[in-house]
Amino acid sequence: MDEFIRSLYSAGKVTGRSGKTYALHSAIDEKESDFLFHLIKKDPKIKKTLEVGCAFGLSSLSICLATKGRAGASHTIVDPFQNTEWDGVGTKHLEDAGIDFFKLIEVRSEFALPQILHEGEAQFDLIFVDGWHTFDHTLLDCFYATRLLRVWGFLAIDDVNWRSVGRAVSFVSNYPCYEQCGAVMESSAKSWRRKLARILATPVPRRVWAEALNPGWYHRVFDQCVPQMVAFKKVAEDRRNFDWHSDRF
Ligand SMILES: C[S@@+](CC[C@H](N)C(=O)[O-])C[C@H]1O[C@@H](n2cnc3c(N)ncnc32)[C@H](O)[C@@H]1O
Repeated sequence: MDEFIRSLYSAGKVTGRSGKTYALHSAIDEKESDFLFHLIKKDPKIKKTLEVGCAFGLSSLSICLATKGRAGASHTIVDPFQNTEWDGVGTKHLEDAGIDFFKLIEVRSEFALPQILHEGEAQFDLIFVDGWHTFDHTLLDCFYATRLLRVWGFLAIDDVNWRSVGRAVSFVSNYPCYEQCGAVMESSAKSWRRKLARILATPVPRRVWAEALNPGWYHRVFDQCVPQMVAFKKVAEDRRNFDWHSDRF
């Protein structure tokens, strides 16, 4: 892990543009930061990135420190509250880390993403979704992300262990254009339930189990045990017909 990112996690607090100090919260954790960083590091073609939801900038740093030094690197941040609720901490961290290739769009993603799409499809190599966590909002972000990603690009989504986010992501995982290429699982599998779930809880087996088991029992056993973060690779154009549908959530 990059030293600057490590120092933020170990300090557990951050300082805003106003000079105020805040406890670090709402951020991706260290495992997720490592996962994002290495996903990008492994593929030198990832240069143009976009994220929804910056907060204190831990995900922005993980993405930008991985693409730093690549010709044509650019990072677009969509976060309507970066300079209000978050006191500019996220973009300040990027500046402190010597990142000068980012653009902040302080507009809600439901308005910003269609505008970006209007400028062109398939523009991005990697999109990270970590904004407003309702089911419909996550699905909307993923809908636009799918259009904005080039083939062989990556879609990563955080907080998949939230029911709302998880259901949206399970639906998206059925798109024929995506293959899951990695996940960060919840840590400390203490009980047999969690150990079993760690093995079974990737989206594809989850669908099979969800269909086979009584839904109440299924949720009691598996709800706490889904991945925290997943990444999909876009392996083909999204050619679903107008009547495409999946009952698998
Ligand atoms: C969980 S935090 C993001 C954490 C960040 N990815 C990190 O790892 O440090 C959620 C973020 O979504 C932003 N947000 C809230 N509503 C949004 C919307 N409608 N569109 C885009 N971002 C939104 C919030 O301002 C907040 O920064």
